[in-house]
Amino acid sequence: TYVIAQPCVDVRDRACVDECPVDCIYQGERMLYIQPDECVDCGACEPVCPAEAIFYADDVPDEWTDYIAINAEVFDGLGQPGGAGNHGPLGADHPRIQALETEGA
Ligand code: F3S
Ligand code: F3S
Repeated sequence: TYVIAQPCVDVRDRACVDECPVDCIYQGERMLYIQPDECVDCGACEPVCPAEAIFYADDVPDEWTDYIAINAEVFDGLGQPGGAGNHGPLGADHPRIQALETEGA
């Protein structure tokens, strides 16, 4: 799977969403998350992110490897919603993201 990491937080450019053929990139409050079981590893999202927030799981920089679990865990209880467009925003973030300091605060 591909993973969205910290550079997305409070940026949420959303260019990635338009590229994903299976619509598996879901909007939280402060970042977006890739549903790991729905992602088909097409890689189309990775080059379009202006924040360079998206990585193949094996290539996530060491400082952000926690984001592999963060992307997965935000879907605990949701499973595979089957498409971000139909599902709509998650309305929440992973607790670890909620807890991050706001830039400039
Ligand atoms: Fe975030 Fe980059 Fe997508 S900033 S919303 S991962 S285009
Ligand atoms: Fe979609 Fe990116 Fe996976 S475009 S299928 S989330 S690699």
